[in-house]
Parts: sequence; C-alpha cells; structure tokens
Amino acid sequence: MFTHQKQFDPLTEQRIIVLGDDASHPHVNAVAGALGDTIEELVTAPFNRHRTFGKLKAKEVVFIRLSDLAKPKQRMEAAKGVAGLTSDAIIALDTFPPERIAEWMETLVRASYRFDKFKTDDEEHTTNFFYAATTEVTEQVHEGIVIGEAANHTRDLVNTPYNYLNATDLAQYATALEAIDNVKVSVLDKPACEALNMGAFLGVNRGSIDEPTLIHVEYTGDPGSKDITALVGKGVMYDTGGYSLKTVQGMPSMKMDMGGAATVLGAIEAIARLKAKANVSVVIAATDNRIGDHATVPDDILTSAKGLTIEIISTDAEGRLTLADALWFAQEKGATRLIDVATLTGAVVGALGKTYTGAFSNDDAFTKDVLNAAKNAGENVWRMPIHEEYHDALKSEVADMKNSGGRLAGASVAAAFLEKFVDDARPWVHLDIAGTAYGEKEGATGTLVKTLTKLFV
Ligand code: BES
Ligand code: MN
Ligand code: ZN
Repeated sequence: MFTHQKQFDPLTEQRIIVLGDDASHPHVNAVAGALGDTIEELVTAPFNRHRTFGKLKAKEVVFIRLSDLAKPKQRMEAAKGVAGLTSDAIIALDTFPPERIAEWMETLVRASYRFDKFKTDDEEHTTNFFYAATTEVTEQVHEGIVIGEAANHTRDLVNTPYNYLNATDLAQYATALEAIDNVKVSVLDKPACEALNMGAFLGVNRGSIDEPTLIHVEYTGDPGSKDITALVGKGVMYDTGGYSLKTVQGMPSMKMDMGGAATVLGAIEAIARLKAKANVSVVIAATDNRIGDHATVPDDILTSAKGLTIEIISTDAEGRLTLADALWFAQEKGATRLIDVATLTGAVVGALGKTYTGAFSNDDAFTKDVLNAAKNAGENVWRMPIHEEYHDALKSEVADMKNSGGRLAGASVAAAFLEKFVDDARPWVHLDIAGTAYGEKEGATGTLVKTLTKLFV
C-alpha cells in the first residue's frame, strides 16, 4: 500500500502530488508557481485538493497545512482526505517537518483503514501510495507505518464478529506473530489450563461450545535482562453476560469484549517489529461468555489458579475472572511488572465517557511512566483510585471474595478485584478501555496500541 521511492520531480510527476505548505521549500514553491497561485490562496484547510488543468504533468496536487499536523483531529482530517484519493499519489515527505513524519505516516495508515470485507457490493478501489523521502527519514517512516499497521490489526480483530473469531481463531492469529524476530508463541488448550487449576478462567468457559485458549507471546529484545513486562489482555471473545444475561440493548457490540487482547497483540507486534530493547510478553485467557447446560450460575464458587475462592454474584462480571488467572500465569512466567488492558466495566464509561481510558494502579512511578507514554502517543488516559473500601465491597460470607461489589464505584471495585491477584511487590497498572476501544459508528479505535509501544520505543 505504501511504497518508498527516493527520487521525485514535481514538474514531471504524473501521479497526484501530496505536499506540505511551506512556501520556502523549493518543491512547494515550484508547484505553486506552476499553478500561478500563492500558497495563501491554495491553502485554506487541513486538506486542499487542486486540479492542475495542464499546468503540471500531475492532474491534481494536494497541499497539507503543516500547522495542523500537530493537532490529532486536523491531522486525521488531512489524512482522511489523502486516503480518499482514488488514483495513485506520491507524498513528498521532504516538504513535511522531519519531527512530524512518523506521526503523519501513522495517521495516513490509520486513515486508510476500512473494515469492509463483509460488504459484497463495495467497489474495490485500492489507491497506491508512494512516499518520496531521503534515507535520513526512513526510520521515522518505518516507525509510523509499523504503529499504524499494528493499530489497524487491532481494529480488525475487534471489528471481526464472534462467528469469525473465537478463542481458537485468536490463538491462531497470535501464533502467526512468530514470523517476527525474537517472538515465541505458545498456546495452552483446555486440559493444560485444567492442569494449572485455572478454575476462574475455565468457569467463564463452561457454557461455551468453543474451547478456551491461553495465549502466551514472548518477545525477547533484551536477553541480558531479567525484567519482563507482561501485557495481559481481556480476551472475552463474546460477552452475552452468561446467566446474568445482558439485555437486548446491552448485548450488541459485545464482540469487542476482546478489545484488551487485541490491543496487547497490536502492541507486541509493533514493539517487536521496532526491535525495542526490552522483554515484553502478552498473556490472554481467551473464551466467550455464554449460557449453556454446564454454564456457571450465580452462587457458584470458583477456585482460581492462585488458590483464592470466588463467589459468583454475577456471571456478567466475567472479565475479572479470566484476568485473575491470566495475571497469575504472567507472574508464574516471571513478569516483573504488569499492565492489563480490558473492556472491563460499564462504570468506567459512566465516569469517563468515551474520552478517557481509566488507569488504576498499585505503583505511582509505573503509573507515571504509563501516563507519560500516553501523553507522547496523544491518547487520553486518566488515573482513578483504588481504596481499601473498594476491597471491602468484595467481601463474601462464603468464599474469599465475591466477583461483584454492588452498584457503587464499579470501575474501582473491579480494579480492586484484580489487585488481589497481583503480588504486592510487582508494579501493576490496569487500563479499563470499555469506553475507548470501540464506537458504534466508527467501530474499533485501536486505542493504546501506540501508548503501550511508546513505553518501550
Ligand atoms: N464487558 C463488560 C463491560 C463493558 C460494558 C464493556 C460496556 C464495554 C461496554 C463486562 O464484562 C461487564 O459486563 N461488566 C459488568 C460488571 C458488573 C456485573 C459488576 C458491568 O459493567 O455492568
Ligand atoms: Mn460481562
Ligand atoms: Zn465482559
């Protein structure tokens, strides 16, 4: 889709030319001069498309207003304009500010994303994009493209409905990441999870006709170090709520309940392709959550791999059950710090809407690193509290804890539940993306792929 080309001459170029609006650049100056207009006349919006009427070999030229590139909304508007071009185009990267090139390429890749493989009447129009650039910028171009592509892969996974993507399909997808250097993937099947006593995770799978999978991806980019950051993703492939069934209004879009899993898979893809000097692993306990003859019911008591017993209040509070065993597994495999990403609670959407991801943590320094990476990535993450009283809400009369703590502070109580499965000494951040991973109209957003990547590169 995006091809590198070194040389480019604006006066003989046949394809649509895309360039910045810095009039002091010789290419920009030459194109504007040939059109007989000033840059002020040509550039009035983030994206400006002009026919050349024979004044240039190219039929059209596009000017991007460089002052807009720093603003995510305007940058996306400009990139959507470019992505909407229906004939081949060349992007004159030398006319863009060097420090904006990675971001601009990434936005172009994201703007080119479509989820249309199930539309039978869609016209196929693939535009080939070329970017002309000197060798000095190719590293930034590469970073932008890698992060953009990884985010788009995440979006594909989230947008794909359950009948095309169950736990086994997700494991197969993850296994293909082994094609990247220094990446190893292993998948544990149901008997293997049983052998590890993953009663919480397997309790969610009991109503399903499909087998669960425990997916473990390891990227070793710093073999000399013992540090491993585990990225644990909620992989509920579909959430019906189980016997605590969701409503007609509440169930649609629950194909996105594996958004956390998709996010960490996108992140490790980018981290590994960019050859980060770090050891990063992904753990996903993947299953759907549904009713069936064997399904878990409220009042059941499950025993997690860690040995803690959990009284089920709601089978719809299933994400934390899968994460409990996934977090335990990640620590068994040597994780020295952990980040989990999960579409965990409706309550976080009530608190932060679709604007911010909620962050919860047992460690101020690690939280600062994550918030800083989010800032660098231009993604909104806001810290929320965990308090002893949220732990109290999970006290059970009959087991070590309940899986749901009532109506108040649902996002923080869910985080408190997860905290019980993290060893005290290990820094951990929980990221609740229930509001930010997906929109009914826009579909999957790919949020946090860049934040998690920026933690390491
Ligand atoms: N997957 C949902 C959370 C969710 C809700 C994600 C809306 C995206 C949009 C989760 O499994 C769930 O059902 N949570 C319950 C927890 C409750 C039963 C304690 C919720 O938020 O209502
Ligand atoms: Mn649920
Ligand atoms: Zn769920």
